[in-house]
Amino acid sequence: MKEHIQEQFKNRFGTDSVVYASAGRINLIGEHTDYNGGFVFPGAIDKYIMAAININGTDKVRVYSMDMDAYSEFGLNEEDAPQEQWARYIFGVCRETIKRGGVVKGFDTVFAGNVPLGAGLSSSAALESCFAFALNDMFNDNKIDKFELAKIGQSTEHNYCGVNCGIMDQFASVFGKKDCLMRLDCRSLEHEYFPFHPEGYKLVLLNSKVKHELVDSPYNKRRESCERVAAKLGVETLRDATYTMLADIRDQLNDEDYRRARFVIGEKQRVLDVCDALERGDYETVGRCMFETHDGLSRDYEVSCEELDYLNDVARECGVTGSRIMGGGFGGCTINLVKEDRYDNFIATAKEKFNKKYGHEPEVINVIISDGAHKVED
Ligand code: GLA
Repeated sequence: MKEHIQEQFKNRFGTDSVVYASAGRINLIGEHTDYNGGFVFPGAIDKYIMAAININGTDKVRVYSMDMDAYSEFGLNEEDAPQEQWARYIFGVCRETIKRGGVVKGFDTVFAGNVPLGAGLSSSAALESCFAFALNDMFNDNKIDKFELAKIGQSTEHNYCGVNCGIMDQFASVFGKKDCLMRLDCRSLEHEYFPFHPEGYKLVLLNSKVKHELVDSPYNKRRESCERVAAKLGVETLRDATYTMLADIRDQLNDEDYRRARFVIGEKQRVLDVCDALERGDYETVGRCMFETHDGLSRDYEVSCEELDYLNDVARECGVTGSRIMGGGFGGCTINLVKEDRYDNFIATAKEKFNKKYGHEPEVINVIISDGAHKVED
């Protein structure tokens, strides 16, 4: 991909370029916990956004998206925001870097990627992290620390793209390390790398191809529910809430808010249980927690959809160890932990049954846990 992007860059802008990349992510467990101060357990994957970049000596950014065959040009002041939604991700990263005292000057760029869009694999975080990393390297001698790079991406979502997301996706994209999942405490930002080699198991994603679109979505509403319950409890986030505390104020909450909070409290504990189980090599417990998460996301948090619930049912029927909807929800993928000897049957059955019911097969996405944001050397 690198040579192809650099060639396109040269054709369009006439100069050489430097290439940067950042990754999409999976999350084994810990969904909708990040903005509640809880724990998440993601890893970067071998699906990237890659950008060829060169400083252009002007005060303008000129961007070409190969995948969309679309071009945009914008200045670096707040009033220069581009109209195109896709270009606002890059504009936002420039602005958030500048707001933090970082230097950004005009540059040309061509980018492309293989992170499936709208599949819950955080293609937008990969795009943000790629540019946050690149601007730090090109203009700031890498003085901006890695957490700040992740926050630049997160603030871009908040301030320029309308998604009030947590820190998980950008964290995973920036901090990702080959063969490791990472447990992040989203309150203290302490994090730990867990080597992930599930001997005898495979991790596979099934993309329902139901498009997930978090912009202007009920995602922000979920967050508001959690914040309302936290305020009622007098705690900063649901990280500090327990089932008992929630039961005590149940009659002051509407049913929806109650169920949202109930899910978050359970999910917070499940991340810790899964980490302990992994250290013991106890994949049965990991899998059971994944199914519990799916049920909670479907019934209490209500971010699943018919197609994803169906894929989850098929996984159960096929004796898959663990399966659940992954990411923000409202479409996208399930993540499945499946014993190697059950893998072929599971994939064949899921394809056949899903196709019969919905008229197309789910896309099978095998992932390798990989490095996050980096400069792509020759
Ligand atoms: C999206 C958000 C993340 C996180 C997940 C749900 O991916 O960007 O911050 O909240 O949903 O776990």
